[in-house]
Parts: sequence; structure tokens; C-alpha cells
Amino acid sequence: MLAGLAFKRKWQNKRKAEGKPYDKPNIVTGANVQVCWEKFARYFEVELKEVRLRDGYYVMDPEKAVEMVDENTICVAAILGSTLNGEFEDVKLLNDLMVEKNKETGWDTPIHVDAASGGFIAPFIQPELEWDFRLPLVKSINVSGHKYGLVYAGIGWVVWRNKVDLPEELIFHINYLGADQPTFTLNFSKGSSQVIAQYYQLIRLGYEGYKNVMENCRDNMLVLKQGLEKTGKFNIVSKDNGVPLVAFSLKDNSSHNEFEVSEMLRRFGWIVPAYTMPPDAQHITVLRVVIREDFSRTLAERLVFDIEKVLHELETLPSRIRITAKIILADDEKAAAANKEKRDLEKTREITTVWRKFVMQRKMNGVC
Ligand SMILES: Cc1ncc(COP(=O)(O)O)c(C=O)c1O
Repeated sequence: MLAGLAFKRKWQNKRKAEGKPYDKPNIVTGANVQVCWEKFARYFEVELKEVRLRDGYYVMDPEKAVEMVDENTICVAAILGSTLNGEFEDVKLLNDLMVEKNKETGWDTPIHVDAASGGFIAPFIQPELEWDFRLPLVKSINVSGHKYGLVYAGIGWVVWRNKVDLPEELIFHINYLGADQPTFTLNFSKGSSQVIAQYYQLIRLGYEGYKNVMENCRDNMLVLKQGLEKTGKFNIVSKDNGVPLVAFSLKDNSSHNEFEVSEMLRRFGWIVPAYTMPPDAQHITVLRVVIREDFSRTLAERLVFDIEKVLHELETLPSRIRITAKIILADDEKAAAANKEKRDLEKTREITTVWRKFVMQRKMNGVC
């Protein structure tokens, strides 16, 4: 939000200086943006222009994004690691196309990179990937320390390319705490524990440490992905070279859908969200598993095993879709209820045993 505000103010100042209207700012993003960008647009009265998705392509198309840019565009926001499927958007291509358009039009539309997850992944496992200040139009980058920065929740930051990219008028200077304190925040006081935790992780792990952790996450992601592929039941909609997560959908969801898989997995202690994609891919539902440092290979294998059990169980159940369509007979319903009760009891016992064993062995499951 602070990065967006800086772009808006910079654009307004430029338009004022040129004697042009400055009351209709817009920002261009993919329809896959995280909700913080919608929030920014609404709170700061900036029109959100979203590039729609399409079947099989779930990130912002750089060509379409550049086509949507006009003289009122404060910036194009690209995501390094789409929240929905972890895919890295092509920031380099976006930069190159935008450089061309700026040359033709005389504008200087900049780029922001929302590297909430990818900012702590790409530098360690894809250092050659150009997505950052190596690209001339990238003026600011945000990253969440509490994702792959490996700190507990509540820390993130934004970095500007140059001092001029953050208008001075947005910075307040206070001196009543004994020294000059420049502040550019939406609130004021904030605890420092997360900053200390981040500092600790940086010096404790260093480049090598973060690299090991990220490689490990990627390897465990591949174990999970391959396990899911082996079932033959899923399409994988995430990419191997993005955020280490697996987003997948059922090849055939005509009888049972992803929401049922999600719901049944809860009984095994797994919370795997199912959700629909944004426009124009909202007919696709995916399940998503994000692999973090403490998600070991053992857990990945365990999850595949439990998903297989859920699939097997679903096969034995009548289609919920057809139940809603009222084509199931009352007798079948009664029998299903009795069976379900029995199965639930057995399942609860099984799950308790498995998790107790897992918790007892937990110390042996360390990732790094
Ligand atoms: C791409 C992206 N941007 C921004 C955010 C929000 O970041 P934070 O949780 O640090 O506020 C997220 C979080 O899920 C995200 O995935």
C-alpha cells in the first residue's frame, strides 16, 4: 500500500507540473493479484485495471498488461509468485515491452514487483532470473518477511530503487523521541520483535542457509507433486520454478469435487484450501499446498498417502452433486448415513493413532 501510495503521489505531482488532470489514476495488475492490491485501489481511490486470466494461463500476460496502460497509469504491479499457483510472472518481458511503449508515448510508466513470497526464493534458487532492480523500470519491491523470510507473522517491507522514487512529502520527521526519526507508515507505534527475529534469521542462516532451506522446500515440493501425479487423478497447475507450492485440480470432478477433497482431508488433520480461480478462469477449482521450511519429505509422503485414502473413500460415496440433484433414493441415504457413522469412528481412531505417532517422532522430521 505504501508503494502504491508513492506511485500515486509521484504520478500526481508530474501531472500537476504538466498542467494535466490528475483525478483518474489507475493501476494495472493481473486478475490473480492478492487482495492487498484491491484494498490499495479502494482505500486510495485508484482504479484497478485487471488483466483477465484464461484457461491454462493463470498469471498476468505482460503483453495484455502493457496494452492496458494509459497516461493515467501510476504503475504496473507484477507478482513474483502468484498467490494462487505460485507462478513467477515474467517481469523481464513486462519491463522490455514497457520500455518500448514508454519510448513511443513519452510516458515513463514504472513497475512495482510484489515479491511477497518470491523475494526470498528467487535470489537463492534462481539467481540468474531478472525480476528486480536489474530491470530499469522496477522502482519498488515488497517482500513478506513472514513468508519465506522465515519469521513469525507480522513483518514485511518495501524497498525503493532510488530516493526520488519515494516522494519526500510522504515522509514525516519527528524528533520528540530524542533524535530525527523519519516515518512512512500507515500506523505509528509497532513492536520490534519481528525485526529482531528477521535480523536473527538473516545472520544465523546467511545466504548459504537460506539457499539450503529454499532448495529443500523445492525438493519436498517435487516429492509431493510427483506423488500427486502418480495417482493419475490430478492436473498440476503450479510450476516447478516458482514458489515451492503445489496447486492441483481433479482431472474429473463430475462426481466429487475439490471442495470435498479439502473437507475430507481435515479429518486427517490437514487443512488444504480449495478455491476457484479469478476471471476468466473461475470455472477452475484448485487445491493448494504451500511447502515451507518445516514441511518435511516425510510429511509430503504422508499427505500423498492421505490424499489417496480420501480419493478411495470418495469413490465409495455417492456423488454429492447428484444428491443435490435429488436423484438418490431415500433408502440409499439411510444406508449411507449408517455407514458414514461407522466409517467416521474408525477414521477418527486411525487419525489419532497416526498423529500421536507423528508428534512423538516430530524431532526426527527436521527439514534442515
Ligand atoms: C503475492 C502477495 N502479495 C501480498 C501478500 C500480502 O502480504 P502480507 O501477508 O505480508 O501482508 C501476499 C500474501 O499472501 C501475497 O501472496
